[in-house]
Formats: sequence, C-alpha cells, structure tokens
Amino acid sequence: MKIAEALFSGSSTRISEKPKQKFPEFAFIGRSNVGKSSLINMLCRNKKLAMTSSKPGKTRLVNHFLINREWYLVDLPGYGYAKAAPGEKRRWAELMEGYFKTERDIRLVVQLIDMRHKPTADDSTMANFFKNTRKPFVVVANKLDKLKKSEIEGNIQRVRDVLELSDDVPVIPFSAEKGEGKQQLLDLILAHSE
Ligand code: GTP
Ligand code: MG
Repeated sequence: MKIAEALFSGSSTRISEKPKQKFPEFAFIGRSNVGKSSLINMLCRNKKLAMTSSKPGKTRLVNHFLINREWYLVDLPGYGYAKAAPGEKRRWAELMEGYFKTERDIRLVVQLIDMRHKPTADDSTMANFFKNTRKPFVVVANKLDKLKKSEIEGNIQRVRDVLELSDDVPVIPFSAEKGEGKQQLLDLILAHSE
C-alpha cells in the first residue's frame, strides 16, 4: 500500500465535531512529544503536513488528514504534559473523550510509546482504556533510532510487561525520524481499512 495523497481536512475544536465526510479513521494517541505528528508526516512523506515541535504540547486540536481520499489519519493532542495548566488538562480530557465517544468509524487505535523510557502511569491508563474498548489496538515503540542495538529487545519487552499487553497486541519498533517500522504499520493499517 502506498500513500499517494494526504490532505489536511480540518481541525476539530469542539467535543463532537466531525469531518464533513465519513471515512474510516486511524487514531494516533500518546504522550506529548512522543512523535505522533512526526510519525504521520513520515507515513505521508511530507514533513510539513502535521506541525511538530521539540517542545511538548504542540498539537492541541484533533486534526484529520485524508489519505488517498479513502481514510483518515487522526493526529490527537498528547497527554502527560507536566506543565499543562489544570484547565488545559480538562480541555484535553474532554476533547479525547468526545473523540472516542462520538459515533465514527474508528478502525485502529495506535498508541505511541517513547521506547527509550519505561512507559508512564498515563501510558498504562490509556492502554488499559483501549484494551477495554476492544477496538483493534497496536502499540508503536517510537524513537528506536535513539537506542543502542543491545537495548532494543529488552525495551520492547518492557513496553509489553508494563502495559500488560496480550500477545494479540502488536508492538512495532519504530523511528519516525529514520523510517524503521513504517511498512509494518502501513500493512496493518491496510489490513484494517477494507
Ligand atoms: P504533541 O503534539 O505535543 O502531542 O507531540 P507529538 O507526539 O506530536 O510529537 P512531535 O511529532 O511534535 O515530536 C516531538 C519531538 O520528537 C520532535 O522534536 C521530533 O523531531 C522528535 N521525534 C519524533 N519522533 C522521533 C523519532 O522517531 N526519533 C527521534 N530521534 N526524534 C523523534
Ligand atoms: Mg503533535
């Protein structure tokens, strides 16, 4: 599968806002700064599609990108941003809850984890939520390029152990910077897009 076209099709600022046209949706969640927007840009081979930043808290709305005029990649604001004001945290929770509660055709939830570090309590909370919804769920262990070869296997196992993932949840080692894992994730998206 190839991404031939990626179009920004708008941001939702309110809880139940939806894009005008209904298509299958692939949702990207994860801590602020883990690389959700960078990963979307890597998949689409366009560094300017989703806005990224070295500082956490860049994506603040729910952004839809229409791929091949067939399905959406959805860039969601990150969690776990320590400096966020209480009002900001509440806004994030409402936006996320609104996104997942609103009737839409979510095919796969992709949770990004920074594989350099042990998954956080927030990561576990989110993973548990999606395990319970029984929606197809995959974990992407991002920032692979920052690890030594000898660390990779152990860190992937740590993601599995801390998040208590069952064997049917794939963990894809990924680098939004270098492109490792891209084909595996695209294949998984394709498998759920039909
Ligand atoms: P929020 O929008 O705040 O939720 O963050 P985000 O998850 O969208 O992160 P973003 O894509 O903006 O990336 C944050 C920083 O991490 C940027 O400086 C990226 O260049 C960097 N980054 C993202 N993915 C990778 C990766 O795989 N490897 C490396 N080395 N850096 C990465
Ligand atoms: Mg972002």
